[in-house]
Order: sequence, then structure tokens, then C-alpha cells
Amino acid sequence: SMAEKGGYKHFMLKEIFEQPQAITNTVAGRINLESGKANLPNLGFSDEQLRDIDRIFLVACGTSWHAAMVAKYWLEKYAKIPVQVDIASEFRYRHLLIDERVLTICISQSGETADTLAGIRRAKKMGSKILTICNVVGSTMTREADGVIYTHAGPEIGVASTKAFTAQLSALLLFTVFLGQKRKQLSLEKSLQLGRALVGVATVIEEILPSLQKKIASLIDDYYDSRDFLFIGRGLSFPIALEGALKLKEISYIHAEGYASGELKHGPIALIDRDMPILALVPDDDVYQKSISNVEEIKARQGRLILIGSEGDSQLANISDDVIYLPRVDDDVNPILYTIPAQLLSYEIATRRGCDVDQPRNLAKSVTVE
Ligand code: G6P
Repeated sequence: SMAEKGGYKHFMLKEIFEQPQAITNTVAGRINLESGKANLPNLGFSDEQLRDIDRIFLVACGTSWHAAMVAKYWLEKYAKIPVQVDIASEFRYRHLLIDERVLTICISQSGETADTLAGIRRAKKMGSKILTICNVVGSTMTREADGVIYTHAGPEIGVASTKAFTAQLSALLLFTVFLGQKRKQLSLEKSLQLGRALVGVATVIEEILPSLQKKIASLIDDYYDSRDFLFIGRGLSFPIALEGALKLKEISYIHAEGYASGELKHGPIALIDRDMPILALVPDDDVYQKSISNVEEIKARQGRLILIGSEGDSQLANISDDVIYLPRVDDDVNPILYTIPAQLLSYEIATRRGCDVDQPRNLAKSVTVE
């Protein structure tokens, strides 16, 4: 009923709009917004254990795997520790180089995904410590871990994950700050900046959501009946391109691919024509110039471009068919912000195509069998 959906037409839309709260709840009390000190009191690891680890494996499936990919960038940059990201169904069967100095982190909305669970069981047997990042209190993965960080997104009903993902990103950035501090790699000043950026991005999302939805709804006439879609991004935006493509294929059944912008010339550039829209994430960040060169290569081949970039970047309009502007936030929280228009685009296109966005065919909310 409309009532259980809080007046929204679908759980997915309700959950998209709950993201500012989900992010805020996940961050609240875990970083001091005056000192920058991160605080994860019930984490379950001693300071010594956190200093002794020399590698991290991030293991997850689906949308949670995309959160892992973003976290790799953050952890390597701020906690200065090597990170490997694995799809759980690969991790559980491949030859692993794991010992007591490895921290394996599983990321799961449900805490019940069969492959991810099997992955941590195997890592644990090999001597790794296990940290679970999870949205469901008391789930199997939280019970089998040495430490837990809960995301506080609240129950997620829509099969396509939305608020759980941005809450996972928030928890992972917090953990990065926490680990960076414990390992003496991250200053309190930078920690404070990251903590404030997290809190700030929730407010920004809250402010822009209604107008962003309208803007995207007004664009989709030209795109909703496409057969194929390409999403591209570099750096922190690369996993968000993957997530955008996943969301679109899950709920609209349009074939969509996500790619690293710099990798276009090694394949997908051959596909460019007027029938395949390309959505490029081009925030004004440290790889901006490189991203723009990639977009110009598409433009030179008459590709159809939707750009999502930073407010005030007026050149974007000249090199695209459509542009969506987002407020400027700290570079490190761009992946959280840039997820929102990708979710809304999928939602608007899928509903326009008459798809059941909350219960897409063949998909399950939680995949508890192999
Ligand atoms: C299923 C869901 C996805 C989710 C994935 C991993 O495929 O449909 O939305 O990302 O499982 O689930 P988890 O609960 O482990 O995050």
C-alpha cells in the first residue's frame, strides 16, 4: 500500500529519499566533528591487531562489491594499506594467499549472501581476522565475524539496493578514517575534513533530491527506449559507473555496461553510435582533465552523451546532449553524491517502461543459495 511506502509509489523511491537519514545515522556518534577523532567502540579488534595487519581483502557481491571498490581507493590513500577487492563467488574458490596478518572485510546488506558467507568462513580458517559491514542486526555474517560495523540504513525492501549502498560507503569511509588514525597514517585535521564532508553530503543530498528527480524525469523521454547504455567514470567514479549500469539493467532490463573511462579505447569505443547513450560521471576532481579527454573522444565519434558534473562547469554543456549538475562537495564523498542521479535515472526509466521496480524479474533481495 501507499501507506507502508510512506506515500511514495515504490519502496525504491522511498529508500532513495531516505538516504540523507541513512548516511546521517551511519555516521552519527562515530566521528567527533570538533576533534576529528573516529570512534568505533564495539569494533572487536585491539589497537595492536589493527596495527599488525598488512593487507586487506574486501569481499562482497553485487552492489556491495561496488562499495568495496570505492573503499579500496580510500583505504589505500588514507590508511596506506594494500587492499584487494574480490567478488565473493571468485574469492571462495580461488587460491588465496591469506594468513594471520590479513583482515578480511565482508560487505553485505543482508549478512546472508551464500557466497560472501562462504568466503569469510574460508578466510577465517586460513587465519584471517574478519570484519563484517552489514545492515541487518544479528545476521549470520555478523555472528561469525570478529568485529562488526553496522550500517544504519533501516530495512531495505526494494530488491535493487539504494540506501544500503550509500550507507555502506559512509561506513567504509568512517572505517578508513578510524584505521588511518590507528595506524598513524592520517592526521586529525584531514580526518575532521572527511568527517565533516560525510555529514555535509547528507545535507546536500537532502536539499537536491526533489529538484534532481524532476530534472531527470524531464530528460528520460529521449532515453527510456534505448536498448543499450554505457556508464563511464574514472577514479572514485569508476565503481559508481558500474553501480549505475547495474541499477539500470536490474530494474529496466536495458542492457547496460559500466566501464572505466580510460579503458574505452580498448573496446567499447567500437560500439559508439546514436543508439547507445553514454552517461559519463565527470566531477571536477583530481582526474577531471583525463575524464574530459575521454568524453571528447566520444563526442568526436558523434556519441550521445549525458554528463553528470560539477555546478559551474559550463564547458560540460558544449560537449554533451544533456547535462546534470551537482553541487561541489569534498572529492572523497563524490561517489556518495554521484550515486543519487544514477539511481534516479534507473528508477525513472524503469517506471516509464512499466517495470516492477521493487520486484524485478529473476532477482532476489538476498541470494542465500549458491
Ligand atoms: C542481490 C541483491 C543485490 C545485492 C546483492 C548482495 O543480488 O539483489 O541488491 O547487492 O544480492 O547482497 P548483500 O545482502 O550481500 O549486500
